[in-house]
Amino acid sequence: MTILLLGSGGREHALGRALATDAPLHIAPGNPGLASLGTCHDVEVSDKAAVVALAKEIGADLVVVGPEAPLVAGVGDALRQAGIACFGPSAAAAELEGSKAFAKQVMRDAGVPTADARVCATAEEVAAALDEFGAPYVVKNDGLAAGKGVVVTEDRQVAAEHAAACGRVVIEEFLDGPEVSLFAICDGETAVPLLPAQDFKRVGDGDAGPNTGGMGAYCPLSWASEGLVEEVMSKVVTPMLAEMRRRGTPFVGLLYAGLALTSRGVRVVEFNVRFGDPETQAVLALLATPLGDVLTAAARGELASLPPLEWRDGAAVVVVEAAKGYPGTPVKGGVISLPADDVDAWTIHAGTAVEDGRLVAAGGRVLGIVGLGADLEAARKRAYAHLEQVEYADGFHRTDIGIPH
Ligand code: AMP
Ligand code: GLY
Repeated sequence: MTILLLGSGGREHALGRALATDAPLHIAPGNPGLASLGTCHDVEVSDKAAVVALAKEIGADLVVVGPEAPLVAGVGDALRQAGIACFGPSAAAAELEGSKAFAKQVMRDAGVPTADARVCATAEEVAAALDEFGAPYVVKNDGLAAGKGVVVTEDRQVAAEHAAACGRVVIEEFLDGPEVSLFAICDGETAVPLLPAQDFKRVGDGDAGPNTGGMGAYCPLSWASEGLVEEVMSKVVTPMLAEMRRRGTPFVGLLYAGLALTSRGVRVVEFNVRFGDPETQAVLALLATPLGDVLTAAARGELASLPPLEWRDGAAVVVVEAAKGYPGTPVKGGVISLPADDVDAWTIHAGTAVEDGRLVAAGGRVLGIVGLGADLEAARKRAYAHLEQVEYADGFHRTDIGIPH
């Protein structure tokens, strides 16, 4: 079986590690970490014709789409039209991430619990919605914003300015309580949950500073109630799949439910239509079942006959090493020297490049350091001990990743 993986970040490196164990792997465009796992091709991932041509040329049995942009652009549709199995939703189904307003409408139709919200296009609508919900204000850009389109603030002026800068926004009720990411692998009808994880979205220790794409993550959640996954499947994932089917746009791929466990129960904060980054780096570190089998079953509509997933014991933590300046303008080009990977700690390449034979930073989130351990504290220690051996003068990281929040 030959697999083509699309993307170039930390999520894709983690997916690639899990996929390369049992199949020849091709990647487009890839990164220096992925280059050691298979053959990289210089193809633009949102160019439908180019992706289909590459998949045919290498005889791909399965294409796994990492990021959201090619999905929203219809790469999944183009592959399926060409008769190539694809793990990733159609453009129509990818609107669950592409448009926050659309996601809210589907949730309403499916009876899925989420924050009450207003879609606003004018300054008057924005002012009315801010007054209706009150502080803390939650203002979200309606379109794709790579995890940076959301402002949560006590300052009405800041909220109004973010809305004005975005154009169309969704303004919603503030949700309290811890956040959880649950990934469900879906084949249109059946969904298989992965281990719930927790992400650290703010840039600084103690959740200070602006939102980022995610500064670290861990799993499993030892503090979560035993029935959490079942509850999310029955209240959120299953009704969403049924509603997407009813609309004639069944969801095939990874449905990422970003959840808040509020004092009034589970609420959906957002959906994404692809694996989360960096949570994937922790979650897949514990998956024992070959990932290629699971994603193939999903792409073929055969999840119902898949044996239950198997997980390794213990915990996994991923700490993101970002370039100074992130999430604003990150310093590029800083030289990196990495320790060798171990069985219980390794480096994920998120935003790196090779220049003049040297590994350098080429993005905001540069590395993900994964540590495994018998429990969360051991995994956390292992990740930070490995990170100590990374030489990268222009980087920074949070020091509290893996402490539940
Ligand atoms: P999103 O892109 O919708 O996931 O939002 C990014 C982050 O903003 C979330 O992970 C939360 O930390 C925060 N956030 C989004 N919506 C809300 C809300 N309604 N109440 C409180 N925090 C929120
Ligand atoms: N970890 C947040 C995201 O993938 O969007």
